[in-house]
Amino acid sequence: MTNLFLDALAGKTGSRPPFWFMRQAGRYLPEYRELRAKADGFLDLCYTPERAARVTLQPIERFRPDAAILFSDILVVPQAIGQTVGFVEGRGPVLDPIKSAAQLAALDPGRTLEHLAPVFETVRLVRSELPDDVALIGFAGAPWTVATYMIEGGSTRDFNTVKSWAISNREAFETMLNLLVESTTAYLVAQVESGAQALQLFDTWANAVPASEFDNWVSEPTARIVSAVKAKAPDIPIIGFARGIGPRLPDYIRKTGIDAVGLDSSISPAEAARDIQPICPVQGNLDPAYLLSGGDEMERAAREVLKELSDGPFVFNLAHGINKETPPSHVERLAEIIRTWESRA
Ligand code: CP3
Repeated sequence: MTNLFLDALAGKTGSRPPFWFMRQAGRYLPEYRELRAKADGFLDLCYTPERAARVTLQPIERFRPDAAILFSDILVVPQAIGQTVGFVEGRGPVLDPIKSAAQLAALDPGRTLEHLAPVFETVRLVRSELPDDVALIGFAGAPWTVATYMIEGGSTRDFNTVKSWAISNREAFETMLNLLVESTTAYLVAQVESGAQALQLFDTWANAVPASEFDNWVSEPTARIVSAVKAKAPDIPIIGFARGIGPRLPDYIRKTGIDAVGLDSSISPAEAARDIQPICPVQGNLDPAYLLSGGDEMERAAREVLKELSDGPFVFNLAHGINKETPPSHVERLAEIIRTWESRA
């Protein structure tokens, strides 16, 4: 069975561009809110395979994208290796922040597979229920982005704590990135063995990394995950999504060995077609604000993305996750615009 999404990641250009949306499952969907209310918190939802599988499938039933993304979170990895992680209503993630070498030494990547067994069960369940022509994407956070939460103890605006810690404790920070490379590799390989057909690495906060540390904190750890995953699962396509790195994209693509790159909206579709698509397949990059707004503005912006990028290997997506206030009818309309796009030469 052909899948347009997997074809695009392999560099092929098909009859229409495939699509999926980051955060396509989540709070903007009433059926998500209903299941979420029955769970004992967000993490409980992630670790209950039947419910996590249902939530993964909800947007597939509504919008029929070409790919489903496993419902889980990037912060299950620090939890798996022994850090305390919680999600507090109205506040987001809260972690017991890593401040010392002793706390770091207590983390154990060897616990990853056992702790995350329910997630692998979710992957198996989803794959068994998905239509053949819809691919299943597994994912993890890239080490830098996960490390920001581990050291800051939650979300941050300025990244001062993690950056100064990484600079003044270089050896300890390297140890932390190494732990994350090891744990994340095991996690991703097990997702593939359970049925994931492509992987995405989310480096949401790559934009906060100083240029002089970019190789150390972003490209090298990512490259090590890519090569270690491919040593065990040679055929798995890997999408790298390093947000906000603009001019460093070509370097990031070459150094990491990713198969395709996720684009945020700081690069225009025309620039991406000219500078990035010749290097590798691209995924993106409609700003989620257009989807939130809907109407003619959304249609115009979506058509611009389609016009500029659909002559080459391309997966339509957003530039970041769907905003939780987004009306599902806007998503429905966007899916229709993409599905009926026909101006391919
Ligand atoms: O549909 C999908 O995209 C799959 C599921 C998914 C979630 N998180 C579910 C989720 C994925 C791929 C993620 C990735 C993730 N998680 C990232 C990287 C991508 C990005 O969005 O930048 C990051 C940084 C996280 C960490 C995280 N998880 C934060 C900061 C929060 C709080 C956000 C908020 O608005 O409250 C979460 C929670 C989270 N992860 C929710 C969902 C659906 C909301 C949880 C809820 O139901 O209360």
